[in-house]
Amino acid sequence: MSFPERLAEDAQRIALRLDEALATLPDQPVVHAMRYALRGGKRLRGFLVLESARMLGVAAERAVSAAAAVECLHAYSLVHDDLPCMDDDDLRRGQPTVHVKWGEATAVLAGDALQTLAFELLADPALGGAEARIALVAGLARASGAQGMVLGQALDIAAETAGRKLTLEEITALQAGKTGALIRFSAEAGAILAGAERAPLRAYAEALGLAFQIADDILDVTGTAEAAGKRVGKDAAAGKATFVSLLGLEGARAQAAALVKQAESLLEPYGEAARYLIAAARFSISRDS
Ligand code: IPE
Ligand code: IPE
Ligand code: MG
Ligand code: MG
Ligand code: MG
Repeated sequence: MSFPERLAEDAQRIALRLDEALATLPDQPVVHAMRYALRGGKRLRGFLVLESARMLGVAAERAVSAAAAVECLHAYSLVHDDLPCMDDDDLRRGQPTVHVKWGEATAVLAGDALQTLAFELLADPALGGAEARIALVAGLARASGAQGMVLGQALDIAAETAGRKLTLEEITALQAGKTGALIRFSAEAGAILAGAERAPLRAYAEALGLAFQIADDILDVTGTAEAAGKRVGKDAAAGKATFVSLLGLEGARAQAAALVKQAESLLEPYGEAARYLIAAARFSISRDS
């Protein structure tokens, strides 16, 4: 099976688990907005959960609630990221953003409920014993909160508000929270489920996460809204320092490619079993959306 086929198959698997979770919720606008926020997307984080688990001998059927949880958390972060008080975006995954479609209050609440749904999914007994599930809950909480994604978002907004251009070191630290933490957790989740050592997957995902955010910054400059499914050119318009503004396009591309090579070499100990995770790292910088 090719990497795109594997990614598509896992995206389908995750979508089914999300549908199952949403089916238990009331027929209310906030739930419709949640369903809307969850549609589409590359599902790369969910894929990292499933593939890191598979590489370590854990079947996708057992890991799928964790993959769905990560995608709920990610969808919530996008809904809030797009709000007028944050990036003020009107296009996401090729459709009007949640607040444009459902109003700001519903978008805030749908984001909140997606976040709590993520943790409910991690309580699913299908994931394994209580110890593994507690480790997943703690790991996702840390990756998402004030030392992870929320911290990165706060630093990003603070720099923009202050009109202060960050240094490369500051941007790297910001991204480690904003994008890196959830990607890192996604890969580590496989090791938690397998009861295996987390460090190699963590190191792989740290390199991948940074490459992924550099690619996001490159796409903001070179991409099209049609392909990306979101507005482009926004970072420069906001006067933001990004990997591209600091390194230049060619420098940013070279840095992303070097990080992917690093991610690949960190998986060498796993041999052939790591081929799809290696493909995922390559995909993270070759994508146009
Ligand atoms: C976009 O993430 C936001 C960033 C962290 C850069 P993705 O590019 O993974 O978005 P989807 O899930 O595929 O829409
Ligand atoms: C958003 O980063 C990261 C999170 C939602 C945590 P960006 O603001 O760069 O993402 P896009 O470009 O809107 O997808
Ligand atoms: Mg943002
Ligand atoms: Mg944004
Ligand atoms: Mg961006």
